[in-house]
Amino acid sequence: MRSVVTGCAGFIGSHLSEALIARGHQVVGIDCFTDYYPRTFKQDNLRGLLQSPGFTLIEANLLEYDLRQLLDGADYLFHQAAQAGVRASWGQSFRVYTDNNVLATQRLLEAAKGVPLKRLVYASSSSIYGDVETLPVTEDTRPQPVSPYGVTKLAAEHLCHLYWVNHGVPTVSLRYFTVYGPRQRPDMGFHKFIRSILSGDEITIYGDGNQTRDFTFISDAVAANLACMESEVSGRVFNVGGGSRVSVNHVLDVLQSVSGLEARRVHIENQKGDVRDTHADTSRAKDALGFRPTTSIEEGLRREFEWLRGLL
Ligand SMILES: NC(=O)c1ccc[n+]([C@@H]2O[C@H](COP(=O)([O-])OP(=O)(O)OC[C@H]3O[C@@H](n4cnc5c(N)ncnc54)[C@H](O)[C@@H]3O)[C@@H](O)[C@H]2O)c1
Repeated sequence: MRSVVTGCAGFIGSHLSEALIARGHQVVGIDCFTDYYPRTFKQDNLRGLLQSPGFTLIEANLLEYDLRQLLDGADYLFHQAAQAGVRASWGQSFRVYTDNNVLATQRLLEAAKGVPLKRLVYASSSSIYGDVETLPVTEDTRPQPVSPYGVTKLAAEHLCHLYWVNHGVPTVSLRYFTVYGPRQRPDMGFHKFIRSILSGDEITIYGDGNQTRDFTFISDAVAANLACMESEVSGRVFNVGGGSRVSVNHVLDVLQSVSGLEARRVHIENQKGDVRDTHADTSRAKDALGFRPTTSIEEGLRREFEWLRGLL
């Protein structure tokens, strides 16, 4: 089997590429090493993959590369590349989001027309929902993003659906709910919390810390992708949540007990575009894909803590 993974040098793309290699796939990974966070993290992410004979890295931008050539002979396409991050998506930088999230996806979908792909799995986001009234949120809830990032992820999800309807490109969108674990991006909450705990710095918390998130451990997010690959579903969207909805304050308490160190907290104003709570109803993914998250928040946080401690 031959799989293409976009964003293969990133947090989720690198783990997914490794899982595919472990299943005996030939993996072609493409990444342009955007400067959103330092290249050194991405080089570390790729270290194991570059040793693997089944892995080929293409350093190129999806906005420029010949994508027909990229998809030549591919069975599966896992589209993880994007400009991530909610808070930076306002103002001038919105252009980066429309380019990397919407245009790049549209280019891939155009290139996928007529290619005998078995599945194109798109990394969508819980950010497409915005602030919902009823939790846990089901896939039928009306999407109403509260950040420009969420708008671009939703636009790309719509593109995936219409290329399925009009051109038979077998797309599936996975709406990830805050993914964490080893290699988590340095702009993400847990990564920053652990760094601060280890250095004794204060941790900045937006709001009162009672906001909750459905946190998804990386191996569970990867498992959802593999389940899509193995199923016959196309043209559908699925929530991918970790089943552990906890508050930011609880996360810090767990990190204190995992590290044996103090989490010194300062609270500042809430950020525009941040939702108050997220909680995924994953029954659709369970029924159609057999998806069941298995890693608890305590175990997942311990694994991320150990990874970051080893890095510093
Ligand atoms: N991490 C999460 O909690 C989370 C939650 C919801 C959705 N997602 C989605 O999952 C995907 C992966 O997220 P991540 O946290 O691994 O992010 P990441 O930034 O670590 O990885 C994305 C990779 O895509 C690459 N990239 C971006 N634009 C590109 C382009 N035009 N051409 C080639 N490469 C390009 C970047 O260089 C980066 O290495 C993204 O689509 C993101 O929107 C992530």
